[in-house]
Amino acid sequence: MWSSANTVSKLRKLSAHVLVCNHITCLRRGGKASAKTLKRALKDRDLSAQVLVTKVKCLDQCGRGPVMVVYPDGVWYGGVDEETARAIVREHLEEGHAVEKRVLHDMRDGEKK
Ligand code: FES
Repeated sequence: MWSSANTVSKLRKLSAHVLVCNHITCLRRGGKASAKTLKRALKDRDLSAQVLVTKVKCLDQCGRGPVMVVYPDGVWYGGVDEETARAIVREHLEEGHAVEKRVLHDMRDGEKK
């Protein structure tokens, strides 16, 4: 078997996956602090086991960073400061609606902002 039961069990708990840009421009715009705040907020709200956070290279929206993308919804966020990171956890990941003021693109409806 190529994966352990423990690994599969962890995957089944996931409800969302957040990609966090960890590349030059987003880091210069405060991305490191935003990512740290996102993880802290997930932990504070007991969502760490349900939301996987992965740091990635450039998401090709450098001028609009820090950039984060929430899947499976496919909602792209720009200008994610620490306040927005907390709002993403509270409003999007916990309550289920996007933080509209920071949405760059919502793949669910194809709307471009
Ligand atoms: S450096 Fe973050 S989108 Fe390019």
